[in-house]
Amino acid sequence: MPDFDTDPRRLSAPFPADFTWGFAASAYQIEGAATEDGRGASIWDTFARRPGAIADGSTGEVACDHYHRYREDVRLMAELGARAYRFSVSWPRILPIGTGALNRRGLDFYQRLVDALLEAGVRPLVNLFHWDLPQALQDRGGFANPEVIGWFTDYTSVVATTLGDRVKDWMTFNEPAVYAFLGHADGIHAPGLLEWPTAIRVADNELRAHAAAAQAIRAVVDEAKIGVAIDVNQVAPATDSERDRLAAMQWSSGRDAWFLDPLFGRGYPALGLEAHREAGHLEGVDLTDPPAGDLDYLGLNYYRRDSVSAKSDLPFDWEIGAVPGSEQTQMDWHVAPDGLRDTLIDLNATYAPREIAITENGAAYPDGVAKDGQVHDQDRLVYLARHVSAAGEALAAGVPLTGYYVWSLLDNYEWSLGYSRRFGVIRVDFDDQRRTPKDSARWYQRLIARE
Ligand code: FCB
Repeated sequence: MPDFDTDPRRLSAPFPADFTWGFAASAYQIEGAATEDGRGASIWDTFARRPGAIADGSTGEVACDHYHRYREDVRLMAELGARAYRFSVSWPRILPIGTGALNRRGLDFYQRLVDALLEAGVRPLVNLFHWDLPQALQDRGGFANPEVIGWFTDYTSVVATTLGDRVKDWMTFNEPAVYAFLGHADGIHAPGLLEWPTAIRVADNELRAHAAAAQAIRAVVDEAKIGVAIDVNQVAPATDSERDRLAAMQWSSGRDAWFLDPLFGRGYPALGLEAHREAGHLEGVDLTDPPAGDLDYLGLNYYRRDSVSAKSDLPFDWEIGAVPGSEQTQMDWHVAPDGLRDTLIDLNATYAPREIAITENGAAYPDGVAKDGQVHDQDRLVYLARHVSAAGEALAAGVPLTGYYVWSLLDNYEWSLGYSRRFGVIRVDFDDQRRTPKDSARWYQRLIARE
């Protein structure tokens, strides 16, 4: 870990007084209560039970038990001075089989959560999709079925109509690339498929569902601010060779620009199209450009630098990961704060979004509880401080940055890694659900307070 001056007062200086400092989390990762109050099954309930799918064999059935403990969690974030909280709605809690009959009790939970947040002075940001599709819809083809555009829009209308008088900040999708590609081509996320053409269809339907849902929100919510969270990590060629440089460009076009270009009205990027076609990913797929995204803000989830090395001349025959020997988190992710600054500047130069919010940033480290009962997570604290500093540099360089959301409020269910990776600034003891704010939480509190 490099020496770094983490002084919160110094680091907060470039940010305006009303800057949105917040926390992010998602339904399946924290709520638990998987079969309670009429919630239907999601594809993550199914996938987590598949032998070998999850590193520690765990599920989100209990997770952080946030469904029952949300009041305590809201109180904790309010104590830390949070200005905003980004959470996701579990589609199968609202519509247990995805369409049709509404489950009032599920919807009531989010009403109570929103009310508690507003009472505590924390602005809610509602994310409509953080990967937990109702299993009943997967049984009908899931996101590969174009009917999903209608299903998603109807679900969005229900949530927007119910919460829209109190919630102004909306997000349609979290990381549509991860959902499409890791879930349908790599098979390491739910629903666990290994079919590239399906993944391409899923991505296309996500983009179309986003556009339709944005309209549905605007139809019922006055002054809605609508965005989407795209995960863009810094992509760099592993060496200076022509092959690696082309691979890095193809990867970033076939993955990041694959979503960003259509969202900003440019249709699918030529380089990415060519790479996917050459790799056989478009076989049987009839692609036309989806409509633009109509974004009030672009959400950026940023964690690391990915270096790309070509194993052959074939697109997608690549090794992607951290530079060997580089500074890495427990996820083996290459720590690169300058990559955050540069990514923000590049996104702004390329797409000129109205606003950008860093909708996720954070790190997993193997925290221990010290003899004094506290968690002295200096590594996470320094990670956050360096990224906040980089965000401040981007702001000073003219990027219209309006928010920063730490991933995550609580240690939680890290998907296929189960409970083996802790991202929280608040520790969760998964035996008794006790919450303990870590040093990084106290540091963030001082940053927000400009102390
Ligand atoms: C992002 C996800 C989030 C969490 C972090 C570590 O890809 O959006 O749910 O898993 O990574």
